[in-house]
Amino acid sequence: MNISGKARAHTNIALIKYWGKANEDLIIPMNNSLSVTLDKFYTETKVTFSPEYTKDTLILNGQEVNEEQAKKIYKFMDIVRERGNTSLHAYIDSVNYVPTAAGLASSASAYAALAAACNEALDLNMSDTDLSRLARRGSGSASRSIFGGFAEWEKGYDDKTSYAHSIDAQNWEDDLSMIFVVINNQSKKVSSRSGMSHTRDTSRFYQYWLDHVDEDIASVKQAIKQKDFKHLGEVIEENGLRMHATNLGAQPPFSYLVPESYEVMEIVHQCRKAGFPCYFTMDAGPNVKILVEKKNQQFILDALLKSFNKEQVIASDITHTGIEIIE
Ligand code: DP6
Repeated sequence: MNISGKARAHTNIALIKYWGKANEDLIIPMNNSLSVTLDKFYTETKVTFSPEYTKDTLILNGQEVNEEQAKKIYKFMDIVRERGNTSLHAYIDSVNYVPTAAGLASSASAYAALAAACNEALDLNMSDTDLSRLARRGSGSASRSIFGGFAEWEKGYDDKTSYAHSIDAQNWEDDLSMIFVVINNQSKKVSSRSGMSHTRDTSRFYQYWLDHVDEDIASVKQAIKQKDFKHLGEVIEENGLRMHATNLGAQPPFSYLVPESYEVMEIVHQCRKAGFPCYFTMDAGPNVKILVEKKNQQFILDALLKSFNKEQVIASDITHTGIEIIE
């Protein structure tokens, strides 16, 4: 007998970053983080368990992924099997819906969708909290993709206490959007996993990061409550830059940012000067994401399109939708 489940999960972008783990195996973070979930980018995953399968198989965007690349996923499936008390292997068919060549495929939506699909297939009846805890074991940021809107991942101190929940913003998210500026660069990629681990272990600035992140979380929550966009933006921009500064303090130092990233930051500054508030944030790569009020979105897009081409500039709403079962 085959048993299957299919789920959709959206990508999220952290406004207050998760950067560094307290426990590498369980993926317990050093600090709380807070994100928005995006409408435009998502993953759909169907998982089928069968006694006929002797191993797990991963198909990504129609192509079988080799054993080496899928190692992390298969390790995650061992956790699922333990949770579901089963020895069945699975056929995983996953499609990332991101604009082509944007390079925005995300482990957050991938593990959130996979966790939800497995929950459905194996009839595990997990709550959103438990799904968040499970998705976290695949990739930390996936814990937040179980929820729509604003979500906070509480760091906790063990597997049980480390999970995300949504933050009520009284529908403020409907007034906001995020613009992605996709910067194609050839430099060698440092994964978020190895970047944060190297920084946590060696950066002279890491303690400073930890000393300020709780204040940032509190300020952002206050700004959300008051629907204060300027306050929200100022805090998230500072927090993102501070995360990137920790990488410069690592030994040896490294940076994810390239000249075009700084060019976008400068455009954001110019837009603000012109009276259009908008704020940037960057993750483990050169792309820049800009948080803006929808009413000002067109002005910022026009400003960006003077320096970047249409394929590089993508705006997305923030979605209320968390995890969805689609079959
Ligand atoms: C910079 O969740 O990709 O995007 O838990 O090792 O899989 P692992 O890392 P991942 O890290 C995301 C880091 C970030 C900030 C964030 O999303 O909070």
